[in-house]
This record gives sequence, structure tokens and C-alpha cells, in this order.
Amino acid sequence: MRVIDIHNHFFPEFWPNLATRYGTPDWPWIRHTEAGKADIMVGDRFFRHIYSACWDPEVRLQEMDRDGVDLQVISATPVLFAYERPMEHALDCAQMFNDAALELCSRGKGRLKSFCQVPLQDTDAACRELTRCLQSGHLGVQIGNHVGSKNLDDPGVITFLHHCANEGAAVLVHPWEMLGRDRMPKYMMPWTVGMPAETQLSVVALILSGAFDRLPSTLRICFAHGGGSFVFLLGRLENAWHHHPVARGECQHPPSHYLNRFYVDSAVFDQRTLQFLVGTMGTGQVMLGSDYPFPLGEEHVGSLIRQSNLPQDAKAKLLSGNAEGFLQIKSESHATGANRSEAAAGPSPPMPESGRLTYSSYLKVPELLELQQPQSSPPHHDELLFILVHQTYELWFKELLHDLDAVVANLRRAGEAPHSHDEVYEAARLLRRCTEITRVLVEQFTILETMLPTHFLAFRGMLEPASGFQSEQFREIEFLCGLKDEKMLRYHRPTPEAYASLKRRLEEPSLRDVFFGALQAMGKLVPPSANVSEREQFEARARAVHELYKDEHHHRDWIDVCERLTEFDELVVSWRLRHIQLVERVIGIRMGTGGSTGASYLKLTLDKKFFPELWEARTLLAE
Ligand code: HEM
Repeated sequence: MRVIDIHNHFFPEFWPNLATRYGTPDWPWIRHTEAGKADIMVGDRFFRHIYSACWDPEVRLQEMDRDGVDLQVISATPVLFAYERPMEHALDCAQMFNDAALELCSRGKGRLKSFCQVPLQDTDAACRELTRCLQSGHLGVQIGNHVGSKNLDDPGVITFLHHCANEGAAVLVHPWEMLGRDRMPKYMMPWTVGMPAETQLSVVALILSGAFDRLPSTLRICFAHGGGSFVFLLGRLENAWHHHPVARGECQHPPSHYLNRFYVDSAVFDQRTLQFLVGTMGTGQVMLGSDYPFPLGEEHVGSLIRQSNLPQDAKAKLLSGNAEGFLQIKSESHATGANRSEAAAGPSPPMPESGRLTYSSYLKVPELLELQQPQSSPPHHDELLFILVHQTYELWFKELLHDLDAVVANLRRAGEAPHSHDEVYEAARLLRRCTEITRVLVEQFTILETMLPTHFLAFRGMLEPASGFQSEQFREIEFLCGLKDEKMLRYHRPTPEAYASLKRRLEEPSLRDVFFGALQAMGKLVPPSANVSEREQFEARARAVHELYKDEHHHRDWIDVCERLTEFDELVVSWRLRHIQLVERVIGIRMGTGGSTGASYLKLTLDKKFFPELWEARTLLAE
């Protein structure tokens, strides 16, 4: 899935001394402190620490690869807007940084695009600079959410927004120069409290002034930081609109009518908030925005959306589909996941030929990372772990089935050609892999035990009636090895495919059957006659194994297979035991979501063995 980040920032590595250039103090400047690090200063006041991702496209692209971002639309930083300065200075400053943005994009291997800035205090100059920028390659404009005391419903700003609509420029509204600063001197409160309030004020100003009734619906406008506090206060606004004529403003419809007229980005940093935001705005109005690479930005860009429990199609819209509409760019571009992984390989990677295999296209990494869909709403932090651990088990179960099937095939061939040792050797080799995998599976429960019982109980209710009973592959392993319990099929009736493959396993000769079939072919075991009881057959098979061990010199390879099978059996019992311990640790003696008595039921499975004759043979040997 393509990933587009529409809200992130840049600073050039160097720019002229603006205070000298314009003859006025307190302009932003960059102070490089050490390699790859710098401070933004405003006059002699410290403003922000930044690092080389702001100006170095290589660093940026590497971090985009790390986060799985295909395309960034970069913007300057509001501290450079200069709306309170003389127009000539603000225009010159805008041109300088707009050209610097394009220069940075030109080194971005097609994966960096830009929004320009304009001197919004002067509508004509702002419109002219926007047109110049669109012609030179910017996709739109980032504007501050107010010009001094003028909100976005100011006639000059509205004229500019008309111009944006006419020119087809996307508009990103960014809060700046936060209100109430004298009451927020500490703790970054202007950013954490002031910014959301600023943005909300802008959205409300556009709605209540009736601007959306007058602006063409072709205007594409987005508000940063999830639209600030707007969606949380929409109900209050709506209530006021319906019940207090004075609060209605000049808009023709209630405020909620205008939600499809603007976008918001996803920079809200909390799953509950994202759910609420998407629930209120709709899946078509929210786009990935990260505030990268600033300190309050999303640490792993896109992770909030990826880890949400939104449906896949909604995630696709948030990660790229909506941005493609907002930016009016084609849904496919040459910046794909394929060249992402190439770019990650080194500073000047060769461009991949299209269609060639890459790490992630081979391993289907993007698809894999989309497969975790928490059910809890808002998603509980530990549910991702719960899902991932189970998925990892299922992946290893798949490999176990793959290897055990190969073991069966080898032992069958060994029975057909009793003097060839290759198949027996190969069976033992693959069984060793199975034991190593199972050893890991036993250990892996410890990871899940880092989850507090209370944390599991917080989302356990969502899981019913799903249960481990329904693990098709686990049951397949049991059936394949020889532990066949037809009753267990009932848990798979809802999934006909699983039911059919388990039924097939039930009817097929098991690993245990094939093993003893091979001993029969070797003449170590007499085929059972019709009137021989189950018990007698069992004892005969145990004696055949006993015979192998007694003649170690001639049967080393078969003894090796027996040892591996025994070890595998032993490890599966360890798995059952560790699973019970986990269950007791997490839910005590509660019933299972599959309807069993839980731990006490599971304890009954501890005596189950795949290859009981191999164990019986040990008793015979000891006699
Ligand atoms: C918090 C963690 C877990 C709890 C509380 C739990 C609980 C249970 C319970 C109570 C059962 C009995 C069936 C039922 O009534 O639902 C069960 C069965 C099962 N669970 Fe888990 N389980 C957990 C984790 C896992 C994991 C990580 C796996 C890995 C695949 C797993 C695989 C199974 C399997 C295969 C069964 C069927 C066992 C059998 O029939 O012998 N469980 N689980």
C-alpha cells in the first residue's frame, strides 16, 4: 500500500542572515551545533533543536524507508511565515524558502514534493507567489491559521482561498502564533494546548462565517493536527447552532453539514482519538500527517494508522487514497515500496528495474504488517502482542506441517526401499528441525506472560467465541502425527475448508502409521492379522522398536529417527504444560472462550502422546 505523508517540515541547511538582509531584528536563523544537529534561533531566543533530516534528503529518505513512507509533501515551518513583517520582506523570505524546498525535493528521488508559503498579509502578493510556485512544481501551499488578529474568514484570506481553488492548489492550514501565550509560559503549552485551540478557531471561523457556502467546493483544504480540538467540540457547536440564534453565524447549515468540505491530518497520537476523528470526519477526510521530523511528530510515521483497528480499505484511504485526491496526484507513481527497500540499501543505491524482486516484495512485508487487526476499541496496547504471538505460532505450525509431511514422505520411501539409508537420514534431519521449532514454541509463551492478567481481561471479552480449539493447524499436527480425535472436527464446522483438510488428515495414514509401515517392510514388525486386539498390536509395535534399540550397530539411523520422534513428543507435552501455566497465570481457573473448563480441561491433554510405542519400548528395555 502506498503511503503519503502530507504534513512534515524542512529547514534548509543554510540561509542568509535575514536580520542583516532586511535591517530588522528577530528573524529566524540556524545555529549548527555539531555534525547533523542544529538549533533554530529567533534573534537571540532559542526556538527548537533540529537534526539533519530537516535538510539532508539522504537522511530523510532513509527514515522514510524505515517507516515505510513512499512520498512526503514537505512544508516550511510557520516561524518563517513573517506575516507581521512588511510584505516585501515576507515575500522575499517566502521565495527564498520556496526555492529551497524545490531544491531539496530535486534531490529526493521523486519521493519529496512540497507546499510553498506566501505573504498572506498581502492578498495580491500571496496569489502571485502561489501561482509562481505552482508553475515551478509545488503542489499547494501551507498557510498559517491567522494573519495577526485576522482569522481565516478575513476577506483577504477568502480571496486567496478562491485563488487556490481556481489554481488547483491544495491548502494545508497550520496553527501558529498561539493565543493566550501569556497564560502558557511553561511546559510547551502553546504547542500542546494553544495549537489545537488555534486550529479549532480557524475551522469554526470558516464554517460560521458562511465561507464554505461561498467558496467553491473544489477548494481542497486540510487542517493540521487532526483539526485541533474541532471534532471534540463539534457537538457543543452544533447544540449552540440549533438552540441559540446568536451562535449560528452566517452559515446556511448546521456545522456538521460542512465536514466533507475539509480534510484533517492524522497527527493525534492516540488510537481512541483517531477512531473518534475518523468516526466524526469520515474515512474520506483524514490523511496521514506526521509533523516529522520535529520533536512533537509521530515517532514512526504511519504507525498510528497501521496499528489502528480501522478496516483495510479505510487504512488505505488514510495512508494514501485521500492524499492522492487532496494533492490531485495519480494513484500510482514511480515512488513505490519497491524502490523504498532499494533506497534503504545504501547512500546511492542503484534504482531498481521495475518488476524486479525486492526484499519486501519477496517477503510480502507490507501485506504481512497489515495482518494485525485488533478487535478492542479503542485498541488495547497489549492486543497487538496477543495477535502477533498467535500469528507467530501459526507460522511455525505451518513450517512444522511442511516438515512433518516431508518426514512422512521420506519414511514411506524408506519402507519401499528398506536398504536405502538416505530417506531415513533425511527424516531424522527434518525431525531435528521440528524439535528445534517446538523448543522455540515452548519458550515463546514467556513473551505473552509479560501481559498482566488485568490487561488481557480488558480485551478478552471481545475474543469470544474464538478459541485455540479452532487452531486448524494445531489439530492438523495432532492428526498428522497420529493423535486423531474425530470429535475435535466439530470446532471447524464453521470453516468448511479447514473442516475438509482436517477430515483428510483424519483419513490419511499418520506419521505413526507410516513409521510402523516401514518397520513392517523391513521385516521388523509382523503385519497384524485380523483377530489381533488393539492392545496386542500396540505391544507388538513397542517390541519392534525395542528390537531396533537392541541392535544399535545395524540400526543407528532408525534409532536416530526414534530419538527425534520421542523428543518431539516430549516437547509437545512441554508446550501443553507451558500453555496451561500461561492460561492459569492469565485467567486462573476460568472457563475458556471455546467453552471448555479451561486449565482443568487442558490438564487432561497432558497424557496425550503421538508415539506411545516409543515410550513403551523404554519400559521393555529397562526390564
Ligand atoms: C492469554 C493467552 C491464552 C489463553 C488465556 C489461552 C486459553 C486457552 C484455553 C482456556 C483453551 C481451552 C479451550 C477453550 O475453552 O477455549 C485453549 C486452547 C488452546 N490454545 Fe490457548 N490460550 C492462550 C494462548 C495461546 C497461544 C499463544 C496459543 C498458540 C497457538 C494457543 C493455542 C491453543 C490451542 C492450540 C488450544 C487447543 C488445545 C487442545 O485442544 O489441546 N493458546 N487456550
